[in-house]
Amino acid sequence: MTESRSKFRLSKILKVVFCSCVITALGLLTVASIRTLSLDVNAGLQLAHWEHTGNFSLVFTQQQREELLTNFKEAIRIPTVSFSETESNTTALLQFDRLLRKAFPTVFSSHLVQHELVANYSHLFWVQGSDPTLEPYLLLAHIDVVPATESDGWEAPPFSAKEIDGFIYGRGTIDDKGALMGILQALEYLLIKGYAPRRGFYIGLGHDEEVSGYQGAVNIVRVLKQRGARLSFVLDEGLAILDGVLSGLEGPAALIGVSEKGQATVKLSVSTSPSHSSMPPRITSIGILAAAVKRLEDNPMPRLFGHGPEGAMFEHLAHKFRLPMRFVASNLWLFAPLISRVLERKPESNAFVRTTTAVTMFNAGVKVNVIPPLAEAYVNLRIHSAQSLQEVLDLIQNTVADQRVKIELVDGFDPLPVSSADEKSFGYQVIKKTVLDMFPGLTVAPGICIGNTDSRHFKELTTNIYRFAPLWFKPGDAQRFHGINERISKKNLEELVIFYFNVIQNFDIRKLPDPHSSAHEL
Ligand SMILES: *[C@@H]1O[C@H](CO)[C@@H](O)[C@H](O)[C@H]1NC(C)=O
Ligand SMILES: *[C@@H]1O[C@H](CO)[C@@H](O)[C@H](O)[C@H]1NC(C)=O
Ligand SMILES: *[C@@H]1O[C@H](CO)[C@@H](O)[C@H](O)[C@H]1NC(C)=O
Ligand SMILES: [Zn+2]
Repeated sequence: MTESRSKFRLSKILKVVFCSCVITALGLLTVASIRTLSLDVNAGLQLAHWEHTGNFSLVFTQQQREELLTNFKEAIRIPTVSFSETESNTTALLQFDRLLRKAFPTVFSSHLVQHELVANYSHLFWVQGSDPTLEPYLLLAHIDVVPATESDGWEAPPFSAKEIDGFIYGRGTIDDKGALMGILQALEYLLIKGYAPRRGFYIGLGHDEEVSGYQGAVNIVRVLKQRGARLSFVLDEGLAILDGVLSGLEGPAALIGVSEKGQATVKLSVSTSPSHSSMPPRITSIGILAAAVKRLEDNPMPRLFGHGPEGAMFEHLAHKFRLPMRFVASNLWLFAPLISRVLERKPESNAFVRTTTAVTMFNAGVKVNVIPPLAEAYVNLRIHSAQSLQEVLDLIQNTVADQRVKIELVDGFDPLPVSSADEKSFGYQVIKKTVLDMFPGLTVAPGICIGNTDSRHFKELTTNIYRFAPLWFKPGDAQRFHGINERISKKNLEELVIFYFNVIQNFDIRKLPDPHSSAHEL
């Protein structure tokens, strides 16, 4: 995931919320008209009768365990680093291509699978289904990784795939080679066992996700569009299973990302005629620009907590929170403004409250004795789901409110549409069921990704994009993303393979069960 370091910070967030909310919740208890505490949303569907499709189960033999580990370690040792939008390690990308062919011979030779390269280094697989009336889906993962340097303090060199205490260390173990190798390893095992899917599906592997996916994902989408493909849904990286990370929550929670924030990079510039510093104007381009930037920092974008998918997330989790947080989360209509004020105190939780504003570059001046003719600054904004790119640009215009400051949009996109997570959402419900079958008792809820993924390029092919892999996150793990000591446990790696092995078979059902067929209807 791009800039995924921020994505699990929800953790810390909630820690803050919970403490502060205790007091306020109790205080307001007397005046609030209490809404019924929410029951597990969709519980009925999980208890309903599901069509049986999964004939194959996966129990690793010792040989398979070793093979899985060997393949994965090789994948980690290939430094498929994206340095910039135009600079990647093509030698490594070619090496990765060779590894895939060697590690998954059945995938590459099966008559059910068509493979092609896209933009030279990305991969697209089509796995033919026996029932062409069932709309296909797409599993997405990415090959590239962000740079890593051992001297940053890694316990093991970042491309060594060294094993320490049951964990494999290395750049890409979590983001995103675990899921990538998990998907292909699962398909390899399924094909060896003689599985033939009923519902056809694609597997897309982008090679430049970390630098926006303009080569890989964008071209995969172009190829699919040319063929007139429509997708039932896309499953990509994004969120995970949070264990002990959301304080106040009883037990671990699997969060399935249903949207991503938007982005805008805005350039502010001020030009003045150059003159000598011995006869300076009252204010220079630097002063004008500095004042504009200061106004942007002093006037954050409006609070929108509760107006995006973060609201639904709280409501889904509500029944698993301990009181009084349960009461607060079940009554966001009342508490959202209050929660916002607590969340905005910390950068990692402020990200859920509003469109964030980050002034990232400021350049001006050429010589010590010359009045600077030009000053420019770049501002990077992450757009909350309840706002549009245009609204954000208008707000910047209003806040800067100075004709001398030129405002230009360098790059940007709206927040991603919110995919559905209700009882009729095929992809969401099958993912949820697969997770619950593997990990009974887990809480499953829709969530929002603060960073962006390749899946955002697929929004014209489907309205349903889910961002999730069953990676276990414990306190402190969030910092490993794009940070040092990125790692995955051997057990979790096996769980990824089993998850994809099961979920592919589960996607074969023709339709979701009727929620009213539940034997335990509430
Ligand atoms: C599962 O096995 C049963 C019985 O052998 C068979 O009738 C059915 O078609 C199989 N289902 C799939 C999806 O392969
Ligand atoms: C690129 O990948 C190759 C092959 O794995 C590796 O030998 C080389 O060191 C990498 N180059 C950079 C700049 O990382
Ligand atoms: C793929 O490689 C060929 C030959 O090296 C090159 O001409 C072409 O521009 C590349 N295409 C992309 C999309 O990178
Ligand atoms: Zn990633």
